[in-house]
Amino acid sequence: MLKTSICGVKLENPTVLASGIMGVSGASLVNVSKNGAGAVTTKSIGLEERKGHPGPIMITTKHYGMNAVGLSNQGIKLSMPEVVYAIKNSRSPVIASIFARKVSEFGVLSKEISKTNPALIEANISCPNVEAEFGKPFATDPDAARDVTKEVVKNTKIPVIVKLSPNVANIAKIAKIVQKAGASTINAINTAGPGLAIDIRTKLPILSNKTGGISGPAIKPIAVKAVYDIYDSVKIPIIGTGGVISGEDAVEMMMAGASAVGIGTGVYYRGIDVFKKVSDEIKVFMKKEGYSNLKELIGAAHNV
Ligand SMILES: Cc1cc2nc3c(=O)[nH]c(=O)nc-3n(C[C@H](O)[C@H](O)[C@H](O)COP(=O)(O)O)c2cc1C
Repeated sequence: MLKTSICGVKLENPTVLASGIMGVSGASLVNVSKNGAGAVTTKSIGLEERKGHPGPIMITTKHYGMNAVGLSNQGIKLSMPEVVYAIKNSRSPVIASIFARKVSEFGVLSKEISKTNPALIEANISCPNVEAEFGKPFATDPDAARDVTKEVVKNTKIPVIVKLSPNVANIAKIAKIVQKAGASTINAINTAGPGLAIDIRTKLPILSNKTGGISGPAIKPIAVKAVYDIYDSVKIPIIGTGGVISGEDAVEMMMAGASAVGIGTGVYYRGIDVFKKVSDEIKVFMKKEGYSNLKELIGAAHNV
């Protein structure tokens, strides 16, 4: 009932662990797959080890999460055995996420990570909280988005997901450009903002980086609109990410056009078994409303 696929990769259910939430350790990705995720995504992996920002790096409130992790990761060399472990032991397909400072580095990472043979590679071209160091995300510039996509695709035989930023005037236009450049799937969206939260007792920003990318329930309408607009302008599948906490959120995202849904901050709200919970809730909705498979839901909001 819940089976779906992303450019030929079969998923038992449409829930996908979003990048950055459970790190890059093989064991934690396997644990997420045991907890019902239809696919799992590694934290974004770069060329070199990065410590990231000092704490506090993440806050969660009733309405939103905000983080400035700063792309901490152990670098490609140490990450590869973890990805291999995850692929060998995970019940669900593993998506390897990569990020880089330069177009050429994306090519190197694409080639290297392909040696582990993940089901899909995700190019994170949209992290908003390293802007001071990295400059504007590639996803906010159509030419840069095209060049990175071409470089990643050129260096692998594995299908490539490109993860887009909501912080643009027309996300559908960028999606079309990356489709033309060879992307097999779009993931929309990365965190929004950046935003700022102030501790009113100390009068200081709560995050050490001051600002952070906003996630969770507050960004769901932005993500749903992004997916809805992208669905109208591309033919490749979409992973809808942003504020999916419940089964009904997931159904909404799929009706907008997503073939699968990314879940990140939902893990903080509902625990590691959020994937199973969301899947069960989708099933309850489908039974009650008379749907028998996900194809009937995907893009349904466009057919009324
Ligand atoms: C703590 C944290 C770390 C993240 N790290 C990454 C990352 O390394 N790479 C990436 O592409 N997205 C990263 N993201 C963005 C998420 O994958 C996701 O796109 C975003 O949080 C929106 O989904 P959500 O509302 O379900 O959290 C991170 C998000 C959070 C909350």
